[in-house]
Amino acid sequence: MQLSFAAPSLNSAGALVLGVQAGGVFTPLAMDADRAAGGALKRAVDASSKFQGKTGQVVEVLAPQGLKAARVLLVGMGKGEDFNTGSAERLGASVVARLYTSGTAAIVFAVDAPKGSKFKPGALAAHLAMGAKLRSYGFLHYRTKARDEYESTIKSVTIGTRDTAAAKKLWATMDAVADSVFLARDLINEPPNVLYPAAFATRAKQLSKLGLKVEVLGEAEMKKLGMGSLLGVGQGSERESQLVVMRWNGARKKDEAPIAFVGKGVCFDSGGLSLKPGASMMGMKGDMGGAAAVTGTMRALAARKARVNAVGVIGLVENMPDGKAMRPDDVVTSMSGQTIEVLNTDAEGRLVLADALTYTQRKFKPKFVIDLATLTGAIMVALGHDHAGLFSNNDQLSTRITDAGKAVGEPVWRLPLGDAYDKLIKSKIADMKNIGGPYAGSIVAAQFLQRFVEKGQAWAHLDIAGVAWQDGEHKPLSPGWGVGWGVRTLDRLVADNYEK
Ligand code: BES
Ligand code: MN
Ligand code: ZN
Repeated sequence: MQLSFAAPSLNSAGALVLGVQAGGVFTPLAMDADRAAGGALKRAVDASSKFQGKTGQVVEVLAPQGLKAARVLLVGMGKGEDFNTGSAERLGASVVARLYTSGTAAIVFAVDAPKGSKFKPGALAAHLAMGAKLRSYGFLHYRTKARDEYESTIKSVTIGTRDTAAAKKLWATMDAVADSVFLARDLINEPPNVLYPAAFATRAKQLSKLGLKVEVLGEAEMKKLGMGSLLGVGQGSERESQLVVMRWNGARKKDEAPIAFVGKGVCFDSGGLSLKPGASMMGMKGDMGGAAAVTGTMRALAARKARVNAVGVIGLVENMPDGKAMRPDDVVTSMSGQTIEVLNTDAEGRLVLADALTYTQRKFKPKFVIDLATLTGAIMVALGHDHAGLFSNNDQLSTRITDAGKAVGEPVWRLPLGDAYDKLIKSKIADMKNIGGPYAGSIVAAQFLQRFVEKGQAWAHLDIAGVAWQDGEHKPLSPGWGVGWGVRTLDRLVADNYEK
């Protein structure tokens, strides 16, 4: 799909998109088009008695006289004062979703900012484009049949704007971020027989084309480093565990301490010997969603040449049961030196993150470290599919992540940490156990991680089990399954706070 910006035109073939405000008030471009069509658009709106210009409402007019367009979409924009970047993205996305397999090859947006909104024309265009692009994603690698049912017919999207220069400038970075979201989605969507740890590492390595330094540690190297916790998880798998380190050095001061992202990359989580029931195992190819978000974020920073030093570390393993697999009751020694009694091999993500966190902090002395993980089913009990869970020892970092998430439509909700929860992972024979009791499962997991946060280190943990992929219902900006959650939030966090 080709995206471009041009001066608004009502004179194109294909699908013409026009904006209508709350109360059915036509925006100026919609008025012009209506005039050209001899009033046919207003008549169509009147004929559809339900249409009031509310967000999400659409009236479609086919082949109106006086206009070249094969179809006109009158889309509701709601109240001008409520219309923000998220509304623009959802609008762009909803048009693409509606016309995805319609046969329409060209879409032309002639959408004015609604009266009362604070949009500058270039920004409106860029966010319409962002929504359109994010929703245009498809994952068709494994479809050999009936592709026309799934494949988009949309070849070009032209966004009309009164400030093409500003739109193009904004779009250059947003486009890079969108492509990075696509990378994260691809990684999540790939089946686990294809995307096993070494295959994931190979894909990360390909990012060196963009100027990232990518290093891959295998099991022998991790063993030398004492990563008994991470290695324990991968030990029942035929596939070799990997630790991938991606570095982007874009700061003006080359030796400035980096910021760090750490991702859980369980390429498939069977539960190990504490085997999951069959139905719960479905979708566990997505248990590397944290690693995908970190990889996508590092790609975005490199692609848009962010003025920051950043490191992304992902622990890639497959959690499988076999004769060599870790047993419930095993005790493993982590790189930090702390011992862990493994009472449930299905609480494996924290074991992977423990060593990845220690490695990252000791090696890079980062300004902060943020880990992302599809860590607990319990986070879905608490927050459902709309918010990721946030845990942190640092209020400033917490606020910044929360603000960034809000700005890009990936909301997070902070949950507490505390000694009372930490007690729940006391072990009878080791420094800690890897599970708590029946309650507060997401907090217990975060407490476990916090035991691997070094003194004075600013840290945040995002539990993304509820948002990394979607079953059934679609999110407005994502057509299905892998969402690529986190790439936009982390990129925004960097852009707003850590670039100089
Ligand atoms: N990968 C799962 C968490 C998960 C569950 C993610 C459902 C997405 C959807 C994680 O490794 C896990 O199995 N967690 C256990 C922890 C428990 C054994 C303490 C869980 O949530 O049940
Ligand atoms: Mn598990
Ligand atoms: Zn898992």
